[in-house]
Amino acid sequence: MTTAKLITIGALAKRTGTSVSALRFYSDRKLIECSRAQGGKRLFKKEVIRRVSFILIAQQLGYTLDEIQHQMAGLPAGRTPTKRDWEKLSNHFKSDLNSKIEQLTTLRDSLSSCIGCGCLSLKSCHLYNTDDAAASLGAGPRFLLGDKSVRNK
Ligand code: FES
Repeated sequence: MTTAKLITIGALAKRTGTSVSALRFYSDRKLIECSRAQGGKRLFKKEVIRRVSFILIAQQLGYTLDEIQHQMAGLPAGRTPTKRDWEKLSNHFKSDLNSKIEQLTTLRDSLSSCIGCGCLSLKSCHLYNTDDAAASLGAGPRFLLGDKSVRNK
């Protein structure tokens, strides 16, 4: 790695809004690559800014570092990922994100009515979930989890 286009951990922290300690942690976990200058200072390619940004967004979306690391393992090591590399990574997340979006939309739209949780506390529960019929579908708030079969009877 030549030092010409490399940035320090402080510059990477400033650009990404991430703490230096978090970046060291990502680096130690091999989520991001670095080289070492004389004296041991970590130096990063500028493309690492994008990787760190991806990690931050994925964490905000609720993914664990293990899940993120697993997904990022598909990115090439030793070279800057291309648009195609990022597209492949994004395809892995798409169906999972679509499922989360659907759940969040359902949560947003359903919280003031019956969610099929078994409490039968709302007046509308007796219409949609008579005698806790949703319990036959399994545990938890069945309607929020996507079960509609009892609701539509
Ligand atoms: S809200 Fe709990 S069963 Fe309807």
